Amino acid sequence: MNEQIQNPLHISSVYLDDVENELVILDQTLLPNEKKFLRLKALEEIVEAIVFLRVRGAPAIGIAAAFGVYVSTFYDKSLPFNNLKEKFFYCKEKIAASRPTAVNLFWALERMKEKFLSHESLCENEIKKALKEEANLIKKEDEIVCRSIGEYGLSLLKPGGFVMTHCNPGSIATAKYGTALAPLYLAKEKGIDVGVFACETRPLLQGARLTSWELSEAGIDVTLICDNMASIVMKEGKIQAVLVGCDRIAKNGDTANKIGTSGLAILAKHYNIPFYVFSPISTIDFSIESGEEIQIEIRNPKEITSQWYEKPMAPIEVKVYNPAFDVTDNSLITAIITENGIAYPPFKENLEKIIQVNGKVEV
Ligand code: MRU
Repeated sequence: MNEQIQNPLHISSVYLDDVENELVILDQTLLPNEKKFLRLKALEEIVEAIVFLRVRGAPAIGIAAAFGVYVSTFYDKSLPFNNLKEKFFYCKEKIAASRPTAVNLFWALERMKEKFLSHESLCENEIKKALKEEANLIKKEDEIVCRSIGEYGLSLLKPGGFVMTHCNPGSIATAKYGTALAPLYLAKEKGIDVGVFACETRPLLQGARLTSWELSEAGIDVTLICDNMASIVMKEGKIQAVLVGCDRIAKNGDTANKIGTSGLAILAKHYNIPFYVFSPISTIDFSIESGEEIQIEIRNPKEITSQWYEKPMAPIEVKVYNPAFDVTDNSLITAIITENGIAYPPFKENLEKIIQVNGKVEV
């Protein structure tokens, strides 16, 4: 089904169709050329959509996983289980195995598991209702979280000039607003001009295909650069801050994000430019001490050699190394912006404090 999309802020890139009981996603692999929504019900196609980045970005993956486990458990008729609990856990494990780095995937599935277990003595309809409500809540909360992250982020920016960003931490990677792009949407809403340099983000081009599309559709000034142009743009004094999202943050603030992020952080330090990481608290993994413990996803070599080209752009047999993420050392990060406030170093202490916060403060 094709639908016309205007401002990406006004579309839902991942949601539940309540009537058809389908997980609906905007197929991000086709952007910016084609705006197509996919309707998914079978476990296999839900897993495929996450593996192939049709739905991507840490919070959106979490939302898709929550709706995905609900839809596949109750509506995938091909699964050979009579027992509801077995079916739920089978779907949960299959979805959990789709991508290893973004913690929101596991976080959302754990929430769904808790909901299942706390309702398992009830009838199937009650379980179904509770799981649907939980998945919808995960999505609704993400929108509120991202708006709050955006407000804190905006307080760090000066009107005018440019920020730099990497990958796509935008509205389509979340329920709405994005993480690192949320301050730019709020700036636009308040009539504050802040321009963006978007790194193209080899090899899957999330910056070129998604961020530059998203921001230009929303009327935000965006300039696309190749990843290897970041240094010259920073040296020319154009950049007031680097804003990035994240897929997993360790207790000490080490941050896994799209491959290339740590290089940008090193450059930002060299040019004395603030480097800000935007993170829902759900992306902080308090079970790990440092980035050493984060599993980095290694993806298909074809993404580098041939996926985007009519003809291969490298010898077919060449050895390829394709890590999808890297870990930015906490010493390179100026601040981590969450929905509860802005955490500055030392992150080990201040991330612990910020999760206790109910109101809005800085630590
Ligand atoms: O492989 P992707 O496209 O899922 O990687 C996404 C990123 O690295 C984003 O920067 C991150 O998830 C932040 S999303 C708001």
